[in-house]
Amino acid sequence: MRLGVLTGGGDCPGLNAAIRAVVRKAEVTYDDRIVGFRDGWRGVIEDDYVDLDVERCRGLLPKGGTMLGTSRTNPFKVDDGVAKVFATIERHGLDAIVAIGGEGTLSASRSLAELGIPVVGIPKTIDNDVNGTDFTIGFNTAVQVATEAIDRLHTTAESHNRVMVCEVMGRHVGWIALNAGLAAGAAVVLLPEDPFDIAVVCDHLQRRHAKGRYASIVVVAEGAKPKEGTLELPPPEIDQYDHERLGGIGSVVAQEIEKLTRLEARVTILGHVLRGGTPSAFDRMLATRFGIAAVEAAHDRAFGMMVGLQGGSVERVPLADAVGELKLVPEALMSGVSRLFLD
Ligand code: F6P
Repeated sequence: MRLGVLTGGGDCPGLNAAIRAVVRKAEVTYDDRIVGFRDGWRGVIEDDYVDLDVERCRGLLPKGGTMLGTSRTNPFKVDDGVAKVFATIERHGLDAIVAIGGEGTLSASRSLAELGIPVVGIPKTIDNDVNGTDFTIGFNTAVQVATEAIDRLHTTAESHNRVMVCEVMGRHVGWIALNAGLAAGAAVVLLPEDPFDIAVVCDHLQRRHAKGRYASIVVVAEGAKPKEGTLELPPPEIDQYDHERLGGIGSVVAQEIEKLTRLEARVTILGHVLRGGTPSAFDRMLATRFGIAAVEAAHDRAFGMMVGLQGGSVERVPLADAVGELKLVPEALMSGVSRLFLD
């Protein structure tokens, strides 16, 4: 078989581990030839590629980022994009493409599969918002990094009797905020799924601090939404996939907390720190299992499918079931940890 592989969307720890697993499985088990496309679907559209083999992938497992590069290029939004994808597949005689991506890349993959492009998907994103899988590659590392950062904020917050607002990524979902907030003992967690009232947040903080010298951590997902009419946020820019470019709500929240409570507040925006660096052991394992399963799916001609983790085993899921709607933090989980106030 001749196999293409690409990484699209925002990078995350574990992408290289997935590429390595695809290449090893394809070459060692099936004697496949593998073409790596640069910068996601852009590389396919422009036929920008590199030949991959086991040798080229040595040492990749613990490295963050993606050796193939990535972009948010959407073939459906580029002139003749889809025709160019077909032409590249034809030129290389490709039998399948493994697309490693999040909601945007996998949505494009789903539409391409419906047009007859032989795609198999692997879900990655630190946001963990892809349906059909318990976890996406990168999420576990992001939670770990955020937890360690919040642990550090605790000690400085306590020394100064301050409120520390920590903004984490999570455009539409609060998986990172909730998990890291819980793991690090935050006082408040603000999620996109549960619009917040800053006045209620401030009351809670004031009650805590009225008990004496006390520090509070407020974890806010970048996509958290104030209840209508409670707090003004600047309008975000929009990318090719109609995604909002966020970041900065933490500063607005911290300012408002200072104004309403007279407590000293500081903000830390973790942002892309959560996407960088070496993947956790869990993400290396997940990426490796997904890579192997995706190559097996390609050989079974299970196109239009994605591999996903479901209760411990790796299963094939139709891309159509995985994309379209985001995997939100369920109400039961939010209320199970007391929705807004974690102490
Ligand atoms: O990959 C998802 C994500 O990390 C979101 O949490 C965030 O809003 C977005 O990517 C940021 O993307 P960019 O790298 O384009 O700033």
